[in-house]
Amino acid sequence: MTQARFQLTDAQKTQANEELFALLRIPSVSADPQHAGDMSRAAEFLRAKLAGLGFDARVDSTEGHPIVYAERLKAPGKPTVLIYGHYDVQPEAPLEEWVSPPFEPTVREGRIYARGATDDKGQAYAHVLGAELLLESGELPVNVKFLLEGEEEVGSQHLEPYLRQKAQALKCDAIVISDGSRFAPDVPTVTYGLRGLSYIEVHVQGANRDLHSGSYGGAAPNPINALCEIIAQLKDDKGRVTIPGFYDGIEALTQDERDMWAQLPHSDAEFASSIGATGLKGEEGYTTLEQLWARPTLDVNGIWGGYQGEGSKTVIPAKAGAKISMRLVPGQDPERITKLAMDHLPTLAPVGAQVTVVAMHGGQPVKIDLDNPYVRAAGAALKTVYGKEAAFTRGGGSIPIVAAFREILQAPVVLVDFGLNEDAPHSPNESFALADFHSGILTSAELLREMAQIDVQ
Ligand code: BES
Ligand code: MN
Ligand code: MN
Repeated sequence: MTQARFQLTDAQKTQANEELFALLRIPSVSADPQHAGDMSRAAEFLRAKLAGLGFDARVDSTEGHPIVYAERLKAPGKPTVLIYGHYDVQPEAPLEEWVSPPFEPTVREGRIYARGATDDKGQAYAHVLGAELLLESGELPVNVKFLLEGEEEVGSQHLEPYLRQKAQALKCDAIVISDGSRFAPDVPTVTYGLRGLSYIEVHVQGANRDLHSGSYGGAAPNPINALCEIIAQLKDDKGRVTIPGFYDGIEALTQDERDMWAQLPHSDAEFASSIGATGLKGEEGYTTLEQLWARPTLDVNGIWGGYQGEGSKTVIPAKAGAKISMRLVPGQDPERITKLAMDHLPTLAPVGAQVTVVAMHGGQPVKIDLDNPYVRAAGAALKTVYGKEAAFTRGGGSIPIVAAFREILQAPVVLVDFGLNEDAPHSPNESFALADFHSGILTSAELLREMAQIDVQ
């Protein structure tokens, strides 16, 4: 039996929790300009902590939110590991659905409830404390660079130019990220793929003003009806996206991968009940895990138009709109997919509906080569901490900067996720199990120790 080599005392756990709570109390919502001051406060909090650990730490301003960069390079001849995370969080809305306030971390039944608890403050801070744990027993066994950004939830716009500009200084042998969900509570996981993203907005204009639905209804164009017709045509009865060219060039799933995923403990019925749904609706011919991790999809994320207030109002609105996200898989390029959608949607417009499609943001999908020593180190570290073999899975979410890391820094990316889907990132009552936070700290320390054994060429 493998024995965890690191332990946290009760005092260390309490200290860790309190520090994370302090970070969670800062409402660093990147989407909302009113929180600009909080963004700086969160960045400064992290800089000060890392400086206190003896890192060379600074806050770099960008045209958007600041980037925290810190390095401690005291392991000559050893690998250099860049740890990436984000300190920005999603907006807290809908506030009334939170059991305790989103920016007042509260522990209930072993879970910290707060916006950002799992995505990504809790997971990123586990690495900061992993480094502290190693430093308490001597020196860091590898060279460590922390890169903590404040714009992940709004598309990481300023990070890519930053990476290009500082490519030399950010040079590293591996990039470690904990910003997702592991497969299941009792399954430690190394994630080796993420979906990409293409996000568009569709605007439909009918008449030049709202109309009486009696005087005009039946003859005038209705942009909401038109929008629904358009959306209804975007998927066929097999759950396939109908945009011409959408599936071109997609990397097929290998039989090995399908077999590996089929071995994972998954039940469709439990998956459905875990989200309180009465059934699942995915693409024919693929299992649920394949649909989530290896198949692209299209979902309406928001829709508006017409009267939304109390009671009824008989009106044909002049305008309607929708936000649509497409999750992409390796072989699909977000710019190409966005263009295909922009070209196709207007062709579906019924008479009298003027359709405009606006491109929002995107992100490249990634698949990580498992055959590299840094990924294996993550498997070994998880085994030490959890006492179980790690599973290798892909994830359905997107971290758009990962592809840029690989391309610009030319180093392997290691995704080792401490969270769970049930932590409800982006939802009201987001949480992070204290036990997962503490295991994350231990995993981070073990991971760096494992990586220290890798020969740098
Ligand atoms: N941490 C998530 C990404 C994630 C979620 C990875 C679940 C794996 C599993 C990240 O903060 C996020 O929310 N990304 C956005 C994309 C971004 C461009 C807004 C996403 O996936 O929607
Ligand atoms: Mn995240
Ligand atoms: Mn997120």
